[in-house]
Amino acid sequence: CGIVGVVADPEVINNVTSMLIQGLKRLEYRGYDSAGFALVECSTGKLLVFKDRGRIDDVVKAYGISRYCSISGIAHTRWATHGEPSQANAHPHVDCRDEIAVVHNGIIRNFLELRRLLEEKGHRLRSETDTEVIAHLLEEYLKTSESMWDAFRKLVKVIDGAYAIAVLYAREPHRIYFARRVSPLIIGLGEGFNMVSSDIPSMLQYTRRFVALNDGEYGYIEPYHLYIEKNGSHVEWRHRIITATWSIEDAEKGGYPHYMLKEIMEQPRVLFETYTGLVSSREVEEAAKLIAEAGSVFVTGAGTSFHAGLVFAYYMSRIAGKPVIPFISSEYAVFKNIDHTGSVLIAISQSGETIDTLQALRGFRASGGRVVAVSNVVGSTIPRESDIAVYTRAGPEIGVAATKTFLTQVLTLSMIALATALYSGSLTKSEYREATERLKDAGRAASTGINRSIRQVELLASSLRNKTNIYVLGRGLGVPLSYEAALKIKEVSYLHAEAYPAGESKHGPIALVEKDFPVVFVATPPEAELLEKIQSNVMEMKSRGASTILVGTSSYLELEGVDFAIDVGSFDEILAPYALVPPLQLLAYRLAVVLGRDPDKPRNLAKTVTVE
Ligand code: G6P
Repeated sequence: CGIVGVVADPEVINNVTSMLIQGLKRLEYRGYDSAGFALVECSTGKLLVFKDRGRIDDVVKAYGISRYCSISGIAHTRWATHGEPSQANAHPHVDCRDEIAVVHNGIIRNFLELRRLLEEKGHRLRSETDTEVIAHLLEEYLKTSESMWDAFRKLVKVIDGAYAIAVLYAREPHRIYFARRVSPLIIGLGEGFNMVSSDIPSMLQYTRRFVALNDGEYGYIEPYHLYIEKNGSHVEWRHRIITATWSIEDAEKGGYPHYMLKEIMEQPRVLFETYTGLVSSREVEEAAKLIAEAGSVFVTGAGTSFHAGLVFAYYMSRIAGKPVIPFISSEYAVFKNIDHTGSVLIAISQSGETIDTLQALRGFRASGGRVVAVSNVVGSTIPRESDIAVYTRAGPEIGVAATKTFLTQVLTLSMIALATALYSGSLTKSEYREATERLKDAGRAASTGINRSIRQVELLASSLRNKTNIYVLGRGLGVPLSYEAALKIKEVSYLHAEAYPAGESKHGPIALVEKDFPVVFVATPPEAELLEKIQSNVMEMKSRGASTILVGTSSYLELEGVDFAIDVGSFDEILAPYALVPPLQLLAYRLAVVLGRDPDKPRNLAKTVTVE
């Protein structure tokens, strides 16, 4: 879910409705099954609430929301957790008297118990959500409090769980109350107005100055005032102001039909920026030292970030000679009973907010381990809760399917792996310098991969459009890249794509292969080690009638039995991912487009998942 709120001095901004709509639209990547607004109307000062299931544009249109003039408001885009997508379950939720409106992202763990208490006191709740209890609790506390602020402070003590909350009270139209625990919440500081939102890009059009709230903080904004408290004490925030350097164009489509395509095409630039930002950076150095001296090294993430972790594990073994244990964040429990003193976990999350990864990190630290975070969002929760934070510089990623953040993660992790190899003595200083210097060309490798494949991918996508299943096979470094390719295809085209290590394909998956079954081979260096083996895997598939597709570095063009080949150029093990991944992302994108799917907003998916 995503939330946004604005309070403004009417002399400065006479109507905030469009700010709310624009801000909310930028949050749609966080979920989009229902949307809603609570506005304080300019002429009457009344609280108006509009909400329904459906996407933001549809709800805005259906209720003619842009026609209303408002001096303040809160809005919400939902991804259902408690209760199906419906009008009743959409946010904002209100109290019995329709005076207190609440939007919320996260989960109130003790809501059933609170709901029971409220019902005993005569409150009639209208939805199945956990959020609605907040509006009614505030109504209840107001009866015995001197002010809404007092009631709000009581509320924060009582509710348990993960939440980002914004509250608008009809009798105090110039104030929005907020609270944050686990789920992200950012304050945007304006001139004559202030905002609160789930992320920075949603406010970039209006301000560049932000304060990221910490866990457990709550307070209120007014047009000229921000007040924060934690555990009953005032919190000084002025030294925490972040000035964003992202441009608005960065957060928009930049002329491409979809964010996903724009973000794939941006990779050459953002890879270079990430390299420049990290080369000889203190964070990479510190992370490498920590990892080199660690007893055991683990790496975790969800979805695409986990695949970047697998690439890291590969480089760590091959280059730094140090084994790394990869695990999917939601499976941390496997290592729960281990004392992690002296061990290090690399926690990868582009958003820095994925709850599964956050919980793994917390568990790992609680049992004595140290954590290095790799994230794209400065000031997000995962890097803030880690011992060392290393940031990728991909800029905001709006497309739900991760693209540019993946390759910038791979680059960042490669730099960490190389630096670790230097500390642990696996690379000499000059070998290290030479390898790091090569990474400067990651962006160029991505351009080569894009330019060499863009036409062919269109042909390939049209030939695959009527298939229902696709295998993606690789060996070595090609394994994590295959996993990522299959995930991308599944996410945006809804075709069933499955990745396996090529050697494993004969232990089961091959049973499905019959005439014209598409099998994509992702063929990576070092060719000398892999060529023969991949050749026999191609023949195994070919002899069952499969339609064989190769996406590989140049030497693989010699392979026999390949029906369709994309040659991304000659690259070594260090640079190959940057040339190989964009063609695979483009294939997923083109498949989505030819099948009439919306690649930016795949069904059932949310970009940032803040529920376990
Ligand atoms: C969600 C997204 C995936 C993403 C994963 C991890 O499931 O749909 O695309 O890879 O979360 O996100 P993170 O922000 O932690 O990298």
